[in-house]
Amino acid sequence: MRGFVIGLLLGLLILPASAWWWLRYGHPPVAVTDPRLPMEKQIVSVPLHARIDREMPAHAAMDANPANLLLGAEVYRQQCAGCHGLYGRPSAFGAHMFPQSPQLWAPHGHGVVGVSDDPPGETYWKVKNGIRLSGMPSYKDILNETQMWQVSVLLANADKQLPADVLAVLQQPLVAVATPGADSAAPSRPTVIPVQPPIPVQPLPSE
Ligand code: HEC
Repeated sequence: MRGFVIGLLLGLLILPASAWWWLRYGHPPVAVTDPRLPMEKQIVSVPLHARIDREMPAHAAMDANPANLLLGAEVYRQQCAGCHGLYGRPSAFGAHMFPQSPQLWAPHGHGVVGVSDDPPGETYWKVKNGIRLSGMPSYKDILNETQMWQVSVLLANADKQLPADVLAVLQQPLVAVATPGADSAAPSRPTVIPVQPPIPVQPLPSE
């Protein structure tokens, strides 16, 4: 009996001790460029999709009318394009994150563009709640309900012919690069981010 109890206690200790040893000395993946753990993708995506299936709204709260698409494109440009890319312009760093930021204007077979094959309610859930341990933020306290739906409805229609003004918002690069000798015709929107005046530096208190 005594041997059994000691064995049991040792067994109970070995598991957490080896887990700690592996975390401390076993080189678990921590860098973006490290290889994935076995089944990492499944471990993360099975519970995420189960939760989204339970909670996502079945119907979009609005139509994909031109006004909603345009406002959705403005939201997208300001909040999402840095990671998820613009129309024909992938994000510079989206592919160098772990997990990668999917490029939401990239066609990827069977006529699908970005997440156009997901119902708007699924995208709305992701925008509202974010995706833990990925770069995907929760916009619950950043955008209002209307804006979260507008951007979700836009992405659900990414495979459709979008109105010209919507495309114009999505095609303009985030920061214009000045090309020497380029035509200086005024762009349709301000492309240069105004530089904030530097904060005045307080002199250090003399001792
Ligand atoms: C800081 C970078 C970042 C920003 C900003 C960001 N996302 Fe994401 N997003 C991600 C990453 C990374 C993923 C991948 C998460 C994963 O694979 O689990 C993701 C995933 C998604 C997905 C799921 C894609 C798929 O293939 O299923 C959608 C939809 C999405 N984001 C929409 C948006 C929208 C809309 C915005 C703006 C309101 C936004 N994201 C802002 C990084 C970002």
